[in-house]
Amino acid sequence: MKQYLVILCLLVTLIACKDHAPLTHTKTHGLITQQAMVVSARKEASQIGSDILKKGGNAFDAMVATELALAVAYPYAGNIGGGGFMVYRLHTGETGALDYREKAPMAATKNMYLDSLGNVVPHKSTVGPMAVGVPGTIAGVFASHKKFGSLPIEDIIQPVIELAERGVVVTEMQEERLKYFQPYFQEVNPNGTVLTGNWKSKDTIKYAALAKTLKAVMIGGDDEFYKGETAKTLAKFIQEQGGIIIEEDLARYEAKWRKPITFEYDGLKITSMSPPSSGGICLAQIMKMIEPYDLDLFGHNSLKTIQVLAEAERRAYADRSHYLGDPDFVNIPQEDLISSEYLIERMGDFSFEQATASEDISHGKVDIIESNETTHYSIVDQFGNAIAVTTTLNSGFGSKLYCPELGFFLNNEMDDFSSKPGVPNVYGLIGAEANSILPEKRMLSSMTPTIVEKDGKLLMTLGTPGGSTIITSVLQTILNVHEFKMTMQEAVNAPRFHHQWLPDEIRMEPNRFEKGLIKQLESKGYEINEERSPVIGIVDGILIQEDGSLEGGADPRGDDTAIGF
Ligand code: DON
Repeated sequence: MKQYLVILCLLVTLIACKDHAPLTHTKTHGLITQQAMVVSARKEASQIGSDILKKGGNAFDAMVATELALAVAYPYAGNIGGGGFMVYRLHTGETGALDYREKAPMAATKNMYLDSLGNVVPHKSTVGPMAVGVPGTIAGVFASHKKFGSLPIEDIIQPVIELAERGVVVTEMQEERLKYFQPYFQEVNPNGTVLTGNWKSKDTIKYAALAKTLKAVMIGGDDEFYKGETAKTLAKFIQEQGGIIIEEDLARYEAKWRKPITFEYDGLKITSMSPPSSGGICLAQIMKMIEPYDLDLFGHNSLKTIQVLAEAERRAYADRSHYLGDPDFVNIPQEDLISSEYLIERMGDFSFEQATASEDISHGKVDIIESNETTHYSIVDQFGNAIAVTTTLNSGFGSKLYCPELGFFLNNEMDDFSSKPGVPNVYGLIGAEANSILPEKRMLSSMTPTIVEKDGKLLMTLGTPGGSTIITSVLQTILNVHEFKMTMQEAVNAPRFHHQWLPDEIRMEPNRFEKGLIKQLESKGYEINEERSPVIGIVDGILIQEDGSLEGGADPRGDDTAIGF
């Protein structure tokens, strides 16, 4: 938590400067370019992605470069030991989605995180080798490149290898983070990791082992990672550490093209991630529930707007918990869940007079920790293609397990399964049978890479980390632009809040909402928690302006940067 307090102090200063400008008078804009842009968590990754576009590559070439560059420059969440989701919209208007989410290993069992008394064994699904799901990122980037890429893979990966060899300069935020994580690295990796040490801002960290792995993958393709020497080394390492992933798990992994969730909201067409992410369905549910209300008249972050959003969020997250899981394993009543009839009825008992109790929707008590340990990047290319990609190791540095020979951290995505019905995961999310563990099943996600169109034209591509708060951060950013007429940068900067059914509270970014407003909400029966999340989400997005130019929104809550031309 200490880490977040330090980051918070930095952020409050930073964000306060931007937000106190009256939004209706002087508009605060992010980077504006005419043709193409990449917005990501690190300037090194945005630069490499933008360079690929400049060389004539398209958004999918830049996706491969940016994703791999984040694995080097932002190992906190960028990865080749994790997974993610991409939503795209081609310049023709065709949309689609790619699922490279991790899978449970074949030896996984429903009760693998329970002791003999049926209780969840603390940390088993979050730290160390048993927490690791079969990684999907390399399959994802190669699937993207094979289907849509235009440049030779060597031209795309070589600059990333050079970045890893040259090294990456530590930022102030990273210094705090690395200090905080040293004991965790030490506990899981007594022989050290590339990040073990007293790193200070402006130091350069070189990633030689990762450069070697990337070179092998550049030459041997995804088969090298899933069936070649890299696969052998990885499986052997995980088993030596006490994990259950075997070579066959890697060999059987594949990324999957999915049909995204598409829905309309007040004249916008929104395309977002389908299961095994809950993002698209939850976003659709919330937006359909709030559509009948005049949010623009209520005003941004006004009492009534917060009430409507919180109540819709409460109801959507209750459904998430019950119905959603890997569509290859469970039947999801997708059409019904996002139908207007169902959602209007779902909001039928909402009143502006008094908060609905989450217990009346369902029941349970939870405790959670919140943070921003995933990462999102958005790309628009000079041909008019747009992508939104959210990728993760789950927690910061995943399971903390680092493979020294291959040079990367492994995810702890297994915690996104429901280890036991009714027992919350690290994000306080409660799951049911639909998200229980089975061999080769994908764990439910909240990641919400999203693309918005207006009048048949691309309007916005966006997304964010933030565990369970991802969906509501994406929601608020879209509303900030569409309902409250903010620029992309203002929409990203604006204070955020979040409700997720359980625990029954509205989380707010601390000291960013008026005390009087908080009192009014409390008087209507809402519990407000300003302590849980120093920041909610780190949103990166690109908005197409009326004149066709691009505006980047890079979240000042992180080191995020927009670069383009
Ligand atoms: O897939 C998910 O929903 C989570 N593994 C995302 C994790 C995340 O956003 C980390 N940041 N809090």
